Amino acid sequence: MKALVLSGGAGTRLRPITHTSAKQLVPVANKAVLFYGLESIAAAGITEVGMVVGDTAAEIEEAVGDGSRFGLRVTYLPQERPLGLAHAVLIARDFLGDDDFVMYLGDNFIVGGITGLVDEFRRNRPDAQILLTRVADPRSFGVAELDPSGRVIGLEEKPEHPKSDLALVGVYLFTPLVHEAVRAVKPSWRGELEITHALQHLIDIRADVRCTLVEGYWKDTGNVGDMLEVNRTVLESMERRIDGEVDDASETVGRVVVEAGARIANSRIVGPAVIGTGSVVRDSYVGPFTSVAENCRITDSELEFSIVLRDSSIRGVGRIESSLIGRHVEVTPATGVPSAHRLVLGDHSRVQIHS
Ligand code: DAU
Repeated sequence: MKALVLSGGAGTRLRPITHTSAKQLVPVANKAVLFYGLESIAAAGITEVGMVVGDTAAEIEEAVGDGSRFGLRVTYLPQERPLGLAHAVLIARDFLGDDDFVMYLGDNFIVGGITGLVDEFRRNRPDAQILLTRVADPRSFGVAELDPSGRVIGLEEKPEHPKSDLALVGVYLFTPLVHEAVRAVKPSWRGELEITHALQHLIDIRADVRCTLVEGYWKDTGNVGDMLEVNRTVLESMERRIDGEVDDASETVGRVVVEAGARIANSRIVGPAVIGTGSVVRDSYVGPFTSVAENCRITDSELEFSIVLRDSSIRGVGRIESSLIGRHVEVTPATGVPSAHRLVLGDHSRVQIHS
């Protein structure tokens, strides 16, 4: 069995995290979303991965390399334009050969991995297997309609009037029968070859398309609240590990990860929290559900339920909560008179100031 990982798409800047144009590289608990996907593919016993890449190929290749550090062999499959998920399967035809495969959308995050699902597929080997999850607003997803016995009878891509609240999750399992289906689909209203239509084709020819309901799914990197929540979920499952330096005046409580090369001085860290390599926390408090990435400086401050991306510094500003702080950001007190907030904020920034 092989894996086809989709990490292409247009290189549009992400909001609110603009440091990367590849949405698959947005970090959760200091690790790119895509890496969790690759780890769960390896954990499911798959080693051959075809990685579909587009505009952001260089960023993805730099991050993933040949895949060996995940225990994978990665073959890059350039896609000239993001012409759709079914188009990605079309261009991967030679790589996939006549093997079964799992198609994994690189911007999807599935808590708990895919091992159970892949095992089930291997055991029963239906023609295709999809994952569904209940969402509040299904209009930005593929949506499934089931009959009373739970069989999939219809699929629609981003319908205006969804027939259910069951959204397609970005993990699909296929036998080679899908190649016939992707050849049969025509471009949709948005000009893409939709995998949803290929699946509908399989249903129409009475192929065996099964579904599994999952919980613990996240995709929307544009929503800070969701990002903080998924960060919290991942931190909650981490084990305590102190590889960096913690001085005698400091205390680390509970599931705290201090990466090698990080330093904690005269501070209190209450887990679950992670402090990345090369970061320094001094005279500060870092509270639960906080991820501080690499090479950050937290001094004379309090930080809780927040994400700080690499190379940022927070100094002498009291307490920060429920915040997402990008790369190379500096947060410091304003000095002198008049007493005023001085701000240099990037495009699409959002600031709430207590005054
Ligand atoms: O995330 C789940 C949803 O993914 C499903 O519910 C939908 O049925 C499915 O069509 C898909 O919808 P999106 O419109 O959200 O897909 P998006 O364009 O975000 O692409 C998903 C991933 O695949 C992303 O990592 C980019 C990559 N991609 C996308 C296209 C269209 C490619 O590599 N090549 C492409 O041509």
